[in-house]
Amino acid sequence: MENIASITHIESVRLSDDGTAVVIIDQTQLPGRTEYLTLSTAEDIWEAIHSLKVRGAPAIGICAGYGIYCLALKIREKDYNGFLREFRREKDYLDSARPTAVNLSWALNRMERVVTGNRDKQVPDILNLLKEECCRIHQEDISMCRAISEYGLSLLKDGDGVLTHCNAGPLATSRYGTGQGPLFLGKERGMNFHVYADETRPLLQGARLTAYELQRAGIDVTLICDNMAGIVMKNGWVQACMVGCDRVAANGDTANKIGTSGVAILARYYNIPFYVLGPTSTIDMNCRTGDDIRIELREPEEIKEKFYREPVALKEVKCYNPSFDVTDHSLITAVITEKGICRPPFTESLAALFC
Ligand code: MRU
Repeated sequence: MENIASITHIESVRLSDDGTAVVIIDQTQLPGRTEYLTLSTAEDIWEAIHSLKVRGAPAIGICAGYGIYCLALKIREKDYNGFLREFRREKDYLDSARPTAVNLSWALNRMERVVTGNRDKQVPDILNLLKEECCRIHQEDISMCRAISEYGLSLLKDGDGVLTHCNAGPLATSRYGTGQGPLFLGKERGMNFHVYADETRPLLQGARLTAYELQRAGIDVTLICDNMAGIVMKNGWVQACMVGCDRVAANGDTANKIGTSGVAILARYYNIPFYVLGPTSTIDMNCRTGDDIRIELREPEEIKEKFYREPVALKEVKCYNPSFDVTDHSLITAVITEKGICRPPFTESLAALFC
């Protein structure tokens, strides 16, 4: 077992030492190789987000914040209107990398507001403010994850079995994580949990990333295939389910990694609490319900070829590969944010967060 801090302090996204590029851990190479990539062009950043080299809603937001700052540094226009035009062009391009995780547009909009709110300033001054804002987005995420982990931990008992889906730990966020944050914080305090990590087909974030993080932190983790969640629940081994989120609608409907809604349905059947953990930046009050959330569709190759030595299906076989699904609010016991624990009715408890 390594020092738990070496896991909770993994920096999956940061600004390069010279402050002109984004440095990420290439999450597609884990757990086999820890490779760092330096992203300096718009295409590099877009591709890294699109291909999930950097992934997890909060990490995508942090990367977008640093990314648009680095691209703004390269804008040659020195008058305000020209700068704003170029800034928006880069912003719209980055925003098109992935549609479901709201943190991408949330971070880019935050950065844009720095530009539009400082029309009276010179471009070099605006650039300084942009740098402050993207660093602030990152710092805020660290404290939000910590607070979410505290609230989440208050819902667990020493010795509990916890089932989780996808990866919402340090790699996907900052420090502790969201969906898996309480597990790291509890471990730090001497608590022991038995974690069941769904492998999370087709891109295996659970096997490659969650099991890696938990195992290295010395947390008791058992990897299961997605279709085994029912049996571990039936066996009485799971006292709580904890997952992250990519976009939470105003009524509590929650988009998260494909397969999450199936876990929630099983949890309801077996009478196990199902918790969604995420920062308030992941709550999109502009989406009334989950029907308003756009679900990303990805390439068939991810199902048929990506992690196999040989294709597991004929080339001509059609695939349906939605990257996320929406868990109905009625299946969610609580949404845990940095501002507190929201319980049904979510239309009221989530709205109260923004008052
Ligand atoms: O496609 P991914 O790997 O980016 O999907 C990630 C998830 O669904 C996570 O659960 C979510 O972003 C929360 S990360 C704290």
